[in-house]
Amino acid sequence: MFLLPNYSAGSHVTGSEATTSEVGVSQSLTIAIDGPAASGKSTIGGLLAERLGYLYLDTGAMYRAVTWAALDDGIDVEDEQAVTQMARGLVINIETPMVDDGRQYSVSVDGAQVTWQLKYPQLDRCVSLVSVYPGVRHVLTEQQRRIASQGAVVMVGRDIGTVVIPDADLKIYLDASPEVRARRRYLELVERGEEADYERILSDVVGRDRIDSQRDVAPLKAALDAIVVDTDKLSIGEVLDVIEELVEGITAGSEERAGG
Ligand code: DC
Repeated sequence: MFLLPNYSAGSHVTGSEATTSEVGVSQSLTIAIDGPAASGKSTIGGLLAERLGYLYLDTGAMYRAVTWAALDDGIDVEDEQAVTQMARGLVINIETPMVDDGRQYSVSVDGAQVTWQLKYPQLDRCVSLVSVYPGVRHVLTEQQRRIASQGAVVMVGRDIGTVVIPDADLKIYLDASPEVRARRRYLELVERGEEADYERILSDVVGRDRIDSQRDVAPLKAALDAIVVDTDKLSIGEVLDVIEELVEGITAGSEERAGG
């Protein structure tokens, strides 16, 4: 069984103290943010959830947690059956962070604290492979849908608007060129004092794009009704402004319908 007990207990409400008055929105929208690696989904998703007082779920962390567990158990990540079986029995916890070291959330896998390990470049190279496995996707998608059904959630990933919550109130697809995304990832690593090689990161980004968008199950693509935002030349604040305007539009529309 795969559990996210702290979600059901509601403890991972990023910025739970944030008020909704800033943007004046209802508490129950479901917001899907998809896009390729390093397109800014996590940063934007986390900040948006904080501003709205919504739950924030980075589904990439779930695929990373499964990959970490496989590597830690010495399971060959190319062994689909073994990885899938292990994923079914894994207890992944994603919680509000207790430490102030720049993390958006804390992740534990079967009790082991793994938050930063999930970001290691070695893991990047395996996670696209693991996320191709239909059995792994099934286990994680079920969990994600259960969380989304509670509403008031910002969920980020690759297939949120297309597969996980196709009826989301707002679907955003964040895009950026591979070079800009690789540069962002490079700077992130340097800032954390980790080793970083731009050319290697760029080739990883391009490789992951290819695997993520060409897989048979839930490939990376914008939903037909998603709003595509190119973040190449936009700051984080500018992207947030665009999305908040869209959220306000939805809220105003539903208030108008309710009133008239
Ligand atoms: O967003 P990220 O880089 O942390 O995602 C890690 C991997 O997980 C990425 O290679 C694609 C996969 N993923 C996915 O297939 N579906 C999701 N909803 C989220 C992530």
